[in-house]
Amino acid sequence: MKRQRNLRPSKRGLAMFGLGYLTARLLARLRSRGHGAGGSEDSDGNDGNEAPFLHSRRIVHNAGEAIISADDDNRIVLANPAAASMFGVSVQEMQGSPLDRFIEAPNHHRGGPPDYFRSDGRAGRRGTDYAGTGMRAGGERFAIEGSIADTLQDGRTLYTIILRDVSERERVQRKLARSHDQLRQLSAALQTIREEERTHIARELHDDLGQLLASLRMDLTLLRDACGSTPEAMHLIKGMDSNLLTAITSLRRIATNLRPRALDEGGLFFALQGLRDDFVERHGIACTLLADEAELRLDDAASTAIFRIVQEALTNVARHAQASSVTMTLYRIDHQLLVTIRDDGRGIREEDMDKAESLGLIGMRERVWGLRGEISVSADEPPGTRIDIVLPVTGHTV
Ligand SMILES: Nc1ncnc2c1ncn2[C@@H]1O[C@H](COP(=O)(O)OP(=O)(O)O)[C@@H](O)[C@H]1O
Ligand SMILES: [Mg+2]
Repeated sequence: MKRQRNLRPSKRGLAMFGLGYLTARLLARLRSRGHGAGGSEDSDGNDGNEAPFLHSRRIVHNAGEAIISADDDNRIVLANPAAASMFGVSVQEMQGSPLDRFIEAPNHHRGGPPDYFRSDGRAGRRGTDYAGTGMRAGGERFAIEGSIADTLQDGRTLYTIILRDVSERERVQRKLARSHDQLRQLSAALQTIREEERTHIARELHDDLGQLLASLRMDLTLLRDACGSTPEAMHLIKGMDSNLLTAITSLRRIATNLRPRALDEGGLFFALQGLRDDFVERHGIACTLLADEAELRLDDAASTAIFRIVQEALTNVARHAQASSVTMTLYRIDHQLLVTIRDDGRGIREEDMDKAESLGLIGMRERVWGLRGEISVSADEPPGTRIDIVLPVTGHTV
């Protein structure tokens, strides 16, 4: 089956049309002289329209882009020096050769030249670029991009193809993708290390310092009983006890901020409940958690990621939203966990999402992508911000 891929009318379209015309003229002349399609490129015509013909030829000849024309039988009728040098042959060698000597045909049942380009291969910056594979004289294969246009001449279709060698661009793109990948892995590894350190410090604070402070309080009670009770001593001991209590409360708060014990001991649902209670108490903003404990029994990686995402979202609500309420909804559908966090504040703006210095949203995205999930952040209707996350949780349930 033949695909028609005409260029839209444009400057480029006109150029293509000119090239088609030129090719047709060349073909007609070569035929009338009894030459094959691979005749000399310098043969002169002698009809009355030589001026535009020669002019077009010069343009094609001098063009920086590789240009070839091929007929219905996939035979190259015309090639310019840029095309010849791209494939590592001479112009004479190209003209008259079959197209598949230079362009690999992905489709074995090919019809005409358009079938040398992948139909799904819309490739370049322009909508008319198609991807293909070129073959150099030495046998090396390389990525090409081509625009192709057809013209009907004396009942025959001629195809003009403008080609670009994109192997260097693809190599750079692959390198860039690899380095993105490495950065992502590095960021995930750093997050894990950070989380482990936080867990470690929180545990040390709670177990060591916490125990020490608790036993100091007990000793203080014994001291009060043993020393009798002058009003001065009583006053001093009361003050010390109150300070010790404040120290214990601060220590618990610091340890919980580092890493809530609930995350390790109770599970995600209870950790989120703690987060919500703390948020309401600290900021006076109403916060509803809609979730089922049984659906949130997830392993450490998923629990930690979701907890940190929700924590960042709530921090943003407190810092930026001017909201009066937030709703967090988490529920499972089959093997996916759907998380939505909505507030009724001023709404996030498009430009807020690209702030270079803002790492909160970037961190959220990285965590979601690390779990192969998807995230969208948008200004909600009615005003407010809405974060939607879909996470595959297969392999993360406990
Ligand atoms: N819930 C929200 N409501 C309104 N604006 C928000 C909200 N969340 C984030 N933003 C906007 O998006 C920006 C980027 O957020 P973030 O990446 O977390 O960075 P940061 O909080 O450090 O500014 C914020 O500076 C803020 O302008
Ligand atoms: Mg933030």
